[in-house]
Amino acid sequence: MKPPHEPLKKLVGHPVSAIDTPALVLDLDAMQRNLGRMAEFARKHEVRWRPHAKMHKSAAIARLQMQAGACGVCVQKTAEAEILAAGGVHDIYISNQVVAPAKLARVAALAHLLAAERGQLAIAVDSGEGVTGLAQAMNAARASGATPAVIAVFVEIDVGQGRCGVAPGAIAVALAHEVRRHAALRLAGLQAYHGKAQHLRSARERREAIAGVVRDVQATRALMEAQGLKVECVTGAGTGTLVCEAASGAFNELQAGSFLFMDADYAANERDPAQPNFEHALFVKSQVMSVAADHAVCDAGHKSHAIDSGMPRVHLPEGAPRLALTYHNGGDEHGILRAAEPGGPLPRLGDTVWLIPGHCDPTVNLHDFMVGVRGGLAHGQVDRIVRVDARGAAS
Ligand SMILES: Cc1ncc(COP(=O)(O)O)c(C=O)c1O
Repeated sequence: MKPPHEPLKKLVGHPVSAIDTPALVLDLDAMQRNLGRMAEFARKHEVRWRPHAKMHKSAAIARLQMQAGACGVCVQKTAEAEILAAGGVHDIYISNQVVAPAKLARVAALAHLLAAERGQLAIAVDSGEGVTGLAQAMNAARASGATPAVIAVFVEIDVGQGRCGVAPGAIAVALAHEVRRHAALRLAGLQAYHGKAQHLRSARERREAIAGVVRDVQATRALMEAQGLKVECVTGAGTGTLVCEAASGAFNELQAGSFLFMDADYAANERDPAQPNFEHALFVKSQVMSVAADHAVCDAGHKSHAIDSGMPRVHLPEGAPRLALTYHNGGDEHGILRAAEPGGPLPRLGDTVWLIPGHCDPTVNLHDFMVGVRGGLAHGQVDRIVRVDARGAAS
């Protein structure tokens, strides 16, 4: 059962200082600037952008992205797609594999529902079984009287991550032929996402990794076209490498998601000069609740922010005392703050400490709501409460 929305709603119009801690806070001005930068970047490079909504899990933000020019959104899970569709998002790509018959039945039902709304659903495949199961589910949904629909299907190729996807080349082409055998499936193209390349720290390493991806895509595309298979769209890219895919001419669509909130791990990448200057927009507001001689303790532990990509960074908003602090793991509900230089000043009891999470996606998934603020973290006010609609939607 989600906690009631009402107490948080009462914060709207109040200063940021009124937000109780720990809380996930979204700087809406920074988010809006990131959106504008992405829209401008995609326009300049003549590519579509279909941001990954697995990051924010919010129908309101997905709609905002589409208003800003995104052609639709990606999700990773069937349940995320269902929840966003119920929230008015009608162009959704499940950039992932689904093979369980019960889930495929839900995918097919959603494809028909979205078709009735003049929207569309797309999905990735990497196995013959997946293709057959999807076709059977689509046929069953149609037989049960739903509005006729086709589902767009991307053949996923493994371009270096070693996760899902068939090998580039002949195997991918054979799978594409398999998709074409079914009337309820439309071959939409290729998914080529290299997750491991996103966090290679140097821009040169990332460029080299994506050069290999582009070679795989081009070779597979050439083989497909030689056999009469149209590749309408090549989709992929994350926040770390999007400049490479966009400039390659081999990609039609960018899936990057984290650019909107920008976490500490992405900020640790050397910035490619061509990359838009995305700002941090997601923060955990915490409060110092204990002070010792050589450390302070804040009330945000790893139930407030994910630590799979490292500890949060302490953020000093404009006007905040210039304390150089590092955050250390204090467990579920505690964060240990130490002075960056031995003997340096610590925050006082009751002080606010702002944290930039190491990894935005799993951090958002820990919260029911994000508190959206405008006018800055130091002197702004609460503008709206953003529900994390698809929190925990893991199936
Ligand atoms: C298939 C796929 N596409 C795109 C992304 C988006 O990447 P990012 O949020 O790092 O920009 C991810 C992230 O894990 C992904 O798995």
